[in-house]
Amino acid sequence: MRLLQSCAELQAWRRNCGTSPLHFVPTMGALHAGHQSLIRRACHSGGGPAAQVLVSVFVNPLQFGPSEDFSRYPRQLERDAELAAAAGAHALFAPGVEELYPGGPEELTRLQPPRSLQQGLCGRHRPGHFDGVATVVLRLLGLIRPQRMLLGEKDWQQLVILQRVVHDLGVPVEVLGCPTLREADGLALSSRNRYLDGEQRRQAAALPASLRAAAAQVVGGGNRDLAALAAAVRTHLEQAGLVVDYVEAVCPRSLQPRSALTGLTLLAAAAHCGPSRLIDHVFLMSRAPIVAIDGPAGAGKSTVTRAFAERLGLIYLDTGAMYRAVTWLVQQSGVDAADAAAVAPLLQGLDLELSTAAAGSQRVRVNGTDVTDAIRSPEVTAQVSAVAAHSCVREALTRQQQAMGERGGLVAEGRDIGTAVFPDAELKVFLTATVAERARRRALDLEQRGFPVPPLAELEAQIAERDHLDSTRAVAPLTQAADAVELITDGLSIEAVIEQLVQLFRQRVPHDAWPEPAA
Ligand code: PAF
Repeated sequence: MRLLQSCAELQAWRRNCGTSPLHFVPTMGALHAGHQSLIRRACHSGGGPAAQVLVSVFVNPLQFGPSEDFSRYPRQLERDAELAAAAGAHALFAPGVEELYPGGPEELTRLQPPRSLQQGLCGRHRPGHFDGVATVVLRLLGLIRPQRMLLGEKDWQQLVILQRVVHDLGVPVEVLGCPTLREADGLALSSRNRYLDGEQRRQAAALPASLRAAAAQVVGGGNRDLAALAAAVRTHLEQAGLVVDYVEAVCPRSLQPRSALTGLTLLAAAAHCGPSRLIDHVFLMSRAPIVAIDGPAGAGKSTVTRAFAERLGLIYLDTGAMYRAVTWLVQQSGVDAADAAAVAPLLQGLDLELSTAAAGSQRVRVNGTDVTDAIRSPEVTAQVSAVAAHSCVREALTRQQQAMGERGGLVAEGRDIGTAVFPDAELKVFLTATVAERARRRALDLEQRGFPVPPLAELEAQIAERDHLDSTRAVAPLTQAADAVELITDGLSIEAVIEQLVQLFRQRVPHDAWPEPAA
């Protein structure tokens, strides 16, 4: 591992990286196992070419208040170099203050992230702190120019603010949040834990314990009174002898105060324990997360959604398969698919079951019969649009999908999923590709399956016509939910699309709230 102490050394090393992607872990040193887990994650390049990993160690004066611990913040460069190397880092950038701020802090261009994100939590108690963090991180990003930056979810407000700054300023870097590492008694790893003596260390465990107790009340007791939960945490901390800065319940994205438990809520606390100021949080959830994926035909939704669900341990709800299953039943019953009055009675007492088998594949049963393969027949394909257009069918299946989603923990793919079925989904994605790209993929698919391939212009016309019909039909037209993220998949591999979905999910649902299943 290379130790780089000047910007010139950094630039020389940067040039030698060639075309390898560069992943960056910013730290203030005093590295511990939490930082090492960030470095190890940074080494994983998610299927792409192997990444070079650079760790920075810089105790940034701009982010410390006048009465804070800047001068006594632990500095141990040699040990940090050993720990970074052991975790797989390729370079450690440890500049002095003059190197990073050559004109002195007074001459420095400073950043000011939105006030709305700094009004609560640590922002209120540490004025100027996040301005200092944003300023140094943007300075480092400008010098290092990494493709990816990894930050701990433990400092959740910092993570949200930096994601926002990078987005607002159009800095070309992915910002990835990583899980919090904890001691056996739950205390989150932090460089400031080393200030604690034995007794203080025991007291500090009250912080995670009180937050966990609040989360357990939501899950076990159904307590949704956020003010009461926050008050209970405060009492618990004070009884343990800690001096509380705040206990606040906020929306995890906007960081605005929440009074009612709607969706994912961040309950965060900061307290002084002897010489250390400790922070921690939990995510309170009234149900497990839901992801809604919609988009035009031929955009590759099914393949991507199935793999994404498997990667995150979510149930894959293929609503298209449900409409196909009803179509199959209509055909088996000899009923006219266009006649709503004749279709309606089939929905009474309908027993439609979706189950996930090995490797994420889904089995579909209707009234006890396995129809997994039968629903893919050309006959079903030909009539599914007509059956799905009956409002009695849509209402029955929407009700069933909502019942399936009551406990959450699923990815639902299908038409009007983000608008009508799960309007409160944590993440809504409109997955699409240009007509030209979808035509190209369709041609490839036909060729691989040994079918004749029509000219591309003809395929493009067919796809454009289908889009037009889908988006102008009276029942459940194809529309993008106002709060859906549009993901255009042109030129992206399936793996790259899944990676982007995972990142979008993680910006909304942290590892603490929904951990990934062990590989
Ligand atoms: O989280 C930290 O250690 C610091 O705030 C950071 C991101 C390295 C900026 O100084």
